[in-house]
Amino acid sequence: MKFLFTTTALFGICCVLAGPGEPKIKSFHFSNELEMGMRESVRCNVLNGDPPFEFSWYKDGLPLKDARGISVRKTDEYDSILVISKVDADSNGNYTCKVSNSRGFDEKSAILSVKGG
Ligand SMILES: *[C@@H]1O[C@H](CO)[C@@H](O)[C@H](O)[C@H]1NC(C)=O
Repeated sequence: MKFLFTTTALFGICCVLAGPGEPKIKSFHFSNELEMGMRESVRCNVLNGDPPFEFSWYKDGLPLKDARGISVRKTDEYDSILVISKVDADSNGNYTCKVSNSRGFDEKSAILSVKGG
């Protein structure tokens, strides 16, 4: 009886802290042949987890807000696409996609580096 109680309690702890249902994002990468003026986009895709999800994009750790030439499109509840209409030297940086839901969050980052930028 005591054993059963302990097992149940441990299971409860495991699955609240790191249970199924928390988001898992697919890693993404920028092209390594980006030149000034090119259009680039990356997709932040949730592989696993319980919707609804909240998507946030960051550049070098700061929230990416309607910067010039940068837009974010949510194509469905599992995908958010970051579009940079014309990359330039200011586009260089570390871009992060963070996805949260009621169970937790996941984040993935990628470095954008423009040739000659
Ligand atoms: C990019 O940003 C993420 C999140 O802030 C950080 O964990 C990661 O180490 C950074 N990557 C590089 C190469 O700086």
